Amino acid sequence: MNAKRLAAEQAVDYVHDNMVVGLGTGSTAYWAIRKLGLMVQSGLNISAIATSVGSEELAKELGIKLVSFSDINEIDITIDGADEVDKDFNLIKGGGGALLREKIVATSSKEFIVVVDESKMVESLGKFPLPVEIIKFGYEATIKKLESLGCEPRIRIADDKVYVTDNGNYIIDCNFGKINDPKELQNKISLIPGVVDSGLFVNVVSRVIVGHQNGLVKEITNYIQ
Ligand code: 5RP
Repeated sequence: MNAKRLAAEQAVDYVHDNMVVGLGTGSTAYWAIRKLGLMVQSGLNISAIATSVGSEELAKELGIKLVSFSDINEIDITIDGADEVDKDFNLIKGGGGALLREKIVATSSKEFIVVVDESKMVESLGKFPLPVEIIKFGYEATIKKLESLGCEPRIRIADDKVYVTDNGNYIIDCNFGKINDPKELQNKISLIPGVVDSGLFVNVVSRVIVGHQNGLVKEITNYIQ
């Protein structure tokens, strides 16, 4: 069973005609975009905003109509994956490097549905190192400031080169260990000059759909959000 696919395809049931849809990034969001593409080919009428160049290209190939923020007032629904989801619906995202666009899109959506397999569900965040997007200028100094918050920072490397995001920035993967207060940490990180944003998503999620290896899919609604 592909648990990621099960969760992502179930989330697509919430998409209806004439909606503006935020398209996530990663191997789970892929299945949602693919299913939406098939539905568009069968007559579904939606517009979409993608959270990465990769997802934009996939959407184009599938015939999904892409729009920009200047064309819309609000996004109706966004479907995206996550690296960790805690019991209070806080997330770590950015394993795929798209955290900034993902956060802009998620926080501009009436509904933000997170799709994961069961391995992503955790009691507390922090086993997965927190991705932080920083600008290139002065990155050495920014890394030191992140370190002073109590993490082991590592600049992300991909294909033997420093990884550069779709926005032209670097990603620092920050191992904080267990994160007791995600909101407080997010506030501290965002005050560092040079930081663009972190992969901590606090108070953004409306629903989590979890796919299980045994074929079950569970939905958890965030009534507080
Ligand atoms: C990309 C992300 C992804 O949603 C996250 O890394 C999960 O990826 P996957 O669905 O491939 O496990 O935040 O920036």
